[in-house]
Amino acid sequence: MITINKHYKKLQTSYLFVDIARRVSEYQRQNPDKHVIKLGIGDVTKPLPPACIKAFHQAVDEMADEKTFRGYGPEKGYSFLRELVALHDFKALGAPISADEIFISDGAKCDTSNFQELFGSDNFVAIPDPVYPVYLDTTIMAGRTGILYEGRYGGVSYLEATKENNFIPALPEGRVDLIYLCFPNNPTGATISKKQLAEWVAFAHENKALILFDAAYEAFIRDKDIPHSIYEIDGAREVAVEFRSFSKSGGFTGTRCAYTVVPSTCRAFNLDGEEVFLHQYWNRRQSTKFNGVSYPVQKAATALYSIEGKRQAKELVDYYMNNAQIIRQEMTSLGYDCTGGDNSPYIWIDGKSDSWEFFDMLLNKAGVVCTPGAGFGHCGEGYIRLSAFNSLANVTEAMERIKAAL
Ligand code: MLT
Repeated sequence: MITINKHYKKLQTSYLFVDIARRVSEYQRQNPDKHVIKLGIGDVTKPLPPACIKAFHQAVDEMADEKTFRGYGPEKGYSFLRELVALHDFKALGAPISADEIFISDGAKCDTSNFQELFGSDNFVAIPDPVYPVYLDTTIMAGRTGILYEGRYGGVSYLEATKENNFIPALPEGRVDLIYLCFPNNPTGATISKKQLAEWVAFAHENKALILFDAAYEAFIRDKDIPHSIYEIDGAREVAVEFRSFSKSGGFTGTRCAYTVVPSTCRAFNLDGEEVFLHQYWNRRQSTKFNGVSYPVQKAATALYSIEGKRQAKELVDYYMNNAQIIRQEMTSLGYDCTGGDNSPYIWIDGKSDSWEFFDMLLNKAGVVCTPGAGFGHCGEGYIRLSAFNSLANVTEAMERIKAAL
């Protein structure tokens, strides 16, 4: 008899953004003439930078010629891309990461969840609340939680991020083995200082824990003092894995390219307490289950590190950050407390009401889609998230409509 993974039964019925998309299409079916403006899921709307398009085309032409055609690529990704990542994204920050420690992949979403596969099922997981729902959902799927009771899954250490702690969770009090952190944070837009991040690194050392650090939004950091990478912190190489993505910084949500950094010294432990190094485990996992990102896509991502690619990517990020500023200003002037939008593309708004009701009200009265904060966790109740990923014209119109609706 084929039996199902019983842990799937513990999940909420559908993934947050699928649920939202279903509600929006139902609204559109009932209001076919209404132009709905989507500030919900963080999905880019501007085309790929011209430098990427050029590299993409050239690589496709290479694949069309027997002399330059390529089959399977190297398991960690092409070194032409990994060398640039190490140089521009880490060495330039003084972070000691080498090309050999980088694994190119098709998304931070897959990597942040697949990485759990390397660990025993009895590990205790700490997850911020609110946070990107993938960490919790995949922890449930992996059987590391109990059932849902009063908005909380048993067996999870929730790291509460609230207005009271400026959306930076305190260190856990009990035992935790695996810690998810995301900065700049999705959904709150909060950022962490080097001093605060150093406390997490020290905690991981003291408790023999591991940090899974999601830095998918680092390109949106504006303040000079905010760390872009956990490896800017001394001692992080031993206790942290970092996830990055070209999705938002280079417009790659539909093209798919990201990377994960697993330093050669990053450790976990055998049951007898002996140190083991995660790099070789992740390499084993990836070379068995993943066949890499396509050559044209890796070439397109490589172009992001050229002089014109960097300039064009910065223009993209600046464009969305201008939207973020407008959203934050407008919502603040309407009397709502906002965080984010200054070093992140998300604006986290205290709606002072049930977040799904606020979502329904914005959709029905303004034709604007937001993400209800409750979808990101118990502590997100009462909030909504607006995303800056849309055209300036749509963002401006959305703000006009919201003003009229409120
Ligand atoms: C979000 O809206 O939180 C993100 O776009 C989702 C994702 O990156 O998968």
